[in-house]
Amino acid sequence: MVKLNDVYKLTIESLDHSGRGVAHIKTFPIFVWNALDGEVVDVKITRSKRSFAEGVVLKYHETNIDRITPICPYYKECGGCDLMHMSYEKELSFKAEKIKEIMHKFARLDTSLIQPILSCNNITSYRNKVTFKVENKIGFYRKKTNHIIAVEKCIHAHPLINELLELLRESVVLQNVYEFVIRVSESTLETMLILKVNADIDEDYFIHTLETFVTTLVVFQDNRYSILIGNGHIREKIGNKMYVISADSFFQVNTKGAKKIYDKVLEFLEITEKDTILDLYCGTGTIGIYIADKAKEVCGIEKNKYAILDAYKNKKINQTSNIDFECKDAARVTMSDKMSKVIVDPPRAGLDPKTVDFLLNTRPKTIVYVSCDPVTLARDIALLRKRYKVKEIVPIDMFPRTQHVECVCLLEKKVRKVNVEKDILHATHL
Ligand SMILES: C[S@@+](CC[C@H](N)C(=O)[O-])C[C@H]1O[C@@H](n2cnc3c(N)ncnc32)[C@H](O)[C@@H]1O
Repeated sequence: MVKLNDVYKLTIESLDHSGRGVAHIKTFPIFVWNALDGEVVDVKITRSKRSFAEGVVLKYHETNIDRITPICPYYKECGGCDLMHMSYEKELSFKAEKIKEIMHKFARLDTSLIQPILSCNNITSYRNKVTFKVENKIGFYRKKTNHIIAVEKCIHAHPLINELLELLRESVVLQNVYEFVIRVSESTLETMLILKVNADIDEDYFIHTLETFVTTLVVFQDNRYSILIGNGHIREKIGNKMYVISADSFFQVNTKGAKKIYDKVLEFLEITEKDTILDLYCGTGTIGIYIADKAKEVCGIEKNKYAILDAYKNKKINQTSNIDFECKDAARVTMSDKMSKVIVDPPRAGLDPKTVDFLLNTRPKTIVYVSCDPVTLARDIALLRKRYKVKEIVPIDMFPRTQHVECVCLLEKKVRKVNVEKDILHATHL
């Protein structure tokens, strides 16, 4: 039995899907954070369960050639990143392999359908949105806890986010604020500050102190947003389209990465002027508007009413006349929502079983599935395979230095096999 605080000298055999090293004591698995395959390490057991244990490295006897020194001073403590101790090349091959393993394990997919991973242009400063916790200090949750560690800056945040963070720390009293979110636009350089408060705040103080520094200031209290500065949104550009982003609306946190996803969706759809396209889980209509120019008609479905309001603003700004939106749950799609091609971009939970049934029953020619969780993607592929075959999966690295990886998957409706011989025989007897 592996006991808490015991120390073992172990050889790391492989990495699990979250990037932890995996070793065994006899057949008993031990998961070790900050340990790479091939490394020989002294591990102290920090958690021991019936079927596995977790540990931390006390000493490295032998290290992997791809081990690097993390550039972030908070890396060991902060819960935000998982892979900063390996080179970016190693991270990309880890992510590519992870997608192959998951697709093989959960969807029995031929892994040759998985294309090389598209890397991220910039592995730092890529985030356009960061959430900070406040409690006598400003920072992020310590790994696997609700305890806050103070941070001066985040190397993954856009520089404007770090500038605003410094200003808030030095000159603003964040009384009654338990969390704040900063969103910025790379193209317009507009900034949004969302203060989440648990008691009334002195609004005049915040307006007076912040009006020269933020484009818009929004306060979230009692489940409601109120705008104190600006008009409650910022604008961001992807390709030649401009989008408004409100406090509560989803927008991809890596703007350059979003363009890669949208370009891949466009390529996979092979749109003709006859195509009608359903954009399920459409958020603020971003993908639908991006691809609408080539289609006959696009319809976006999304359950967040604020996102739908933004979607209509985006339709207007981009003068996209052939798109419409409906605010409803994707599980409530009906035959009247049938279109020739479908984009789905669900949250991590993947598709609702009713949405899968809708796709199987309405049989669009093409489904392009944008996924932020390969396990639920594989589960849904296995369900859709009854009528669809996977043509390609392209992994895209949207979140360098974390375990997360996005995928864009092209599914095509299977062609019904016609029994030609039987048909000819039948014809000659007529
Ligand atoms: C990953 S985001 C994709 C948004 C958009 N496609 C984009 O690229 O910006 C998922 C979206 O699905 C919405 N959503 C979550 N569950 C939903 C559901 N059951 N029905 C409809 N929309 C849902 C969320 O509000 C969010 O806007």
